[in-house]
Amino acid sequence: MRRPTLLLALAALAVAPPALAGWQSLGRLPAPRVTPRGLEYRDGRVALDVHAVAEGVVRVRFVPRPGFGPDFSWSLVEPRPVPPPARCSRQGAHDVLAAGGLRVLVDRSAGRVEVQAADGESLEADDPEQGLAWSGQVLRAARRLRDDEHVYGLGEKAGPLDKRGWQLGGTSVAMWNSDTYRYDASTDPLYVSVPFYLVLRRGRAHGVFLDESHRSSFDVGRSSPGRLTVAVEGGELDTYVIDGPTPRQVLERYTALTGRVPLPPLWALGYHQSRYSYFPDGRLRELARQFRERRVPADALWLDIHALQDFRPLTWDRERFPDPAGLLAELRRQGLRTVVVADPHPKKQPGEALYEAGLAGGHFVRRADGTVCEGEVWPARAEREPGPSVFPDFARPATRAWWGALYGPLLETGVAGLWNDMDEPSVFDGPGGTLPLDARHDADGRAADHAEVHNVYGQLMTRASFEGLLRLRPGQRPFVLTRASFAGGQRYAAVWPGDSSSDWSHLKGSIPMLLGLGLSGFAFAGADVGGFSDDAAPELLARWLQLGVFYPFFRNHSDFGTADQEPWAHGQPWERINRRSIELRYELLPQLYTALREASRTGLPALRPLFVDFPREEAAWGLDDQFLFGDDLLVAPVVREGQRRREAWLPPGDWFDFWTGERRAGGRRVGVEAPLERLPIFVRAGAFVFRQPVVQHTGEMPGQPLIVDVYPAERSEGRLYEDDGESLDYQRGVFAERVFRQERQAGLCRVGVGAPVGGWRPAARELRLRVRLDVEPRRVRLDGRELPRGGASPGWSWDAGVAEVRLPDPQAALEVLLD
Ligand code: GLC
Repeated sequence: MRRPTLLLALAALAVAPPALAGWQSLGRLPAPRVTPRGLEYRDGRVALDVHAVAEGVVRVRFVPRPGFGPDFSWSLVEPRPVPPPARCSRQGAHDVLAAGGLRVLVDRSAGRVEVQAADGESLEADDPEQGLAWSGQVLRAARRLRDDEHVYGLGEKAGPLDKRGWQLGGTSVAMWNSDTYRYDASTDPLYVSVPFYLVLRRGRAHGVFLDESHRSSFDVGRSSPGRLTVAVEGGELDTYVIDGPTPRQVLERYTALTGRVPLPPLWALGYHQSRYSYFPDGRLRELARQFRERRVPADALWLDIHALQDFRPLTWDRERFPDPAGLLAELRRQGLRTVVVADPHPKKQPGEALYEAGLAGGHFVRRADGTVCEGEVWPARAEREPGPSVFPDFARPATRAWWGALYGPLLETGVAGLWNDMDEPSVFDGPGGTLPLDARHDADGRAADHAEVHNVYGQLMTRASFEGLLRLRPGQRPFVLTRASFAGGQRYAAVWPGDSSSDWSHLKGSIPMLLGLGLSGFAFAGADVGGFSDDAAPELLARWLQLGVFYPFFRNHSDFGTADQEPWAHGQPWERINRRSIELRYELLPQLYTALREASRTGLPALRPLFVDFPREEAAWGLDDQFLFGDDLLVAPVVREGQRRREAWLPPGDWFDFWTGERRAGGRRVGVEAPLERLPIFVRAGAFVFRQPVVQHTGEMPGQPLIVDVYPAERSEGRLYEDDGESLDYQRGVFAERVFRQERQAGLCRVGVGAPVGGWRPAARELRLRVRLDVEPRRVRLDGRELPRGGASPGWSWDAGVAEVRLPDPQAALEVLLD
């Protein structure tokens, strides 16, 4: 009998009735070998390991082969965690591994695995009818999916936040990085793959990570409502089960394994203006002038492929940009950084240095027959001398080092950041729009085919870029944006979900998409504000800019040939409205920066779904048209044309309208006005909201007053994180972190500010504590001394329910009493 081809096996998978011919299931297992890490089963046919990994993390690794290959991962942070002690025993019908607060039960007779929390709660369990099975290269794990389980994450996905997709009858998604121009809510897969999901069951959370780069699919209750089936088309079924019990803890543990977003340079959190493409140089000068004259804040302008000579990466079109260094310096003097596109497809150009050096160094991906792979990407669309491209083999460390060093001249020209695009990789005339699956890569000395490397190609390119920037500019934080990536890629680059459309459905869809990315480790992300393809109508652009204020990465970008999409493109009143939106972003930067520091430390995304903070609230489980921004702001964006009012669900507790200060009781849905000028935003009672006055770019921040809005609560605490915004010194403790506290009782409000921790101090500035009170205080004391009322600093004033206390920031502990 001929072995079923991969394609046939896949077709079978798509319809997968329980016991389809061609599938072999794990069946009875032999007695395990007990090792210090756990249980290991071998019977000459299959290999199954059940290992302790870390506190709250176990690994179940399976291949239908006599043994495992090298223990290699494209995603995990090395060195891996030291596993906690494992205790193995036999209990009734089960082999049991107890480690790190989890128990794994293996039913040897049926070949079924179950992971339980210490309290006996069953987290993941093989489906009773189907467990581990394989057919040819395809490996499949069928797990039980309970009616009360909700499933989130899975990387960059269009569609609902809850992948359980109740109304849709489940969802089924694939992991295969794809160039999907003009995608819609039903397009899958997109550009970034993260085979990680978080399960929430009545408020309790755990996570599952499939550490395998081959194409995989996740059928979440679609083929069968009670089953979640994971299938991978090669490699291993290598699964990490990660306990919570809170969603935060799952995220913290998942990102401890695969890494966290590094703290970006402060400028990268400002407003970015891009288009495909701004050229020639005069257009950039004009753009800069417009931003500054119109007083629309911005930190970066982007150069797309028309800045390159015939669309070839790492070049300049010298007719359009005769003096790039001069231009970039001029922009920089106005506080504008420049980011340049850097794609992975050098042109095949015999005689040209880049191509020849790549050939000589063996840096390009090869076909199965050993010749260099060629394919059409942007250089094939150039007006002059169009031709095919070749593709660096980023799986190879020497190639990553080579490529990373190639950015040197760009940096010398004054380029501040890199934009890695088309790195799925996208190949217009390639099979399936990419490189052939049997193309050959060199994975650190081990031969690997493109079927294995495809999903990590973008992640590895960003690694080359990130590490290259670190080497070229030691001590400076790199900034890289990428379109494609894979689990673990959050360590190297921010992501944006590619080529959306200027359409309300894309504005709305960007919310669950970015929430899902954040839950999958990619906490630094933002969609093209205004939408990529088509023309953005004035109202759509205005609402999208208002939403983009809360994207961790805030860039307006648009397709070739579309109408202008700058904040002023539609005249008044739009320019005024849009300016105000971008100003809000700059006002809130201290808050956002603190939230991103948290993401870099614990994996908790700044932009996150409400269930992360309120896991027990049923109303939060499916909410995907509102979100939290940091710990204290709740944003309910406008997602429909003409909408001037909307409903928002407020979690239990008190909330304050950010704009009016009105107190709203939570635990219910409330109606809220959403005039064209602004989105509904609510602030959690007890919050400290850190702000600054409007600046035109982040370079103007030093010396600005720090404004702290103190929202009432009997007792609460907040934290502010600051540092120099550009160097890596923060990793050595050179930062300033301060705790703010309040206590209120019987007409007395005490606000305490802790001494900064860490070795950095901001420039001299004023501190403005804006304390919300029910009644006007009689007096205000600073460290026991009564402050004068009036405009002086130190001093205090009262206006509309807010006592504003001004003082030179002492960078030391202080206490303010209001009574
Ligand atoms: C791709 C990118 C888009 C970019 C264009 C030209 O379509 O997704 O953002 O503008 O290529 O480089």
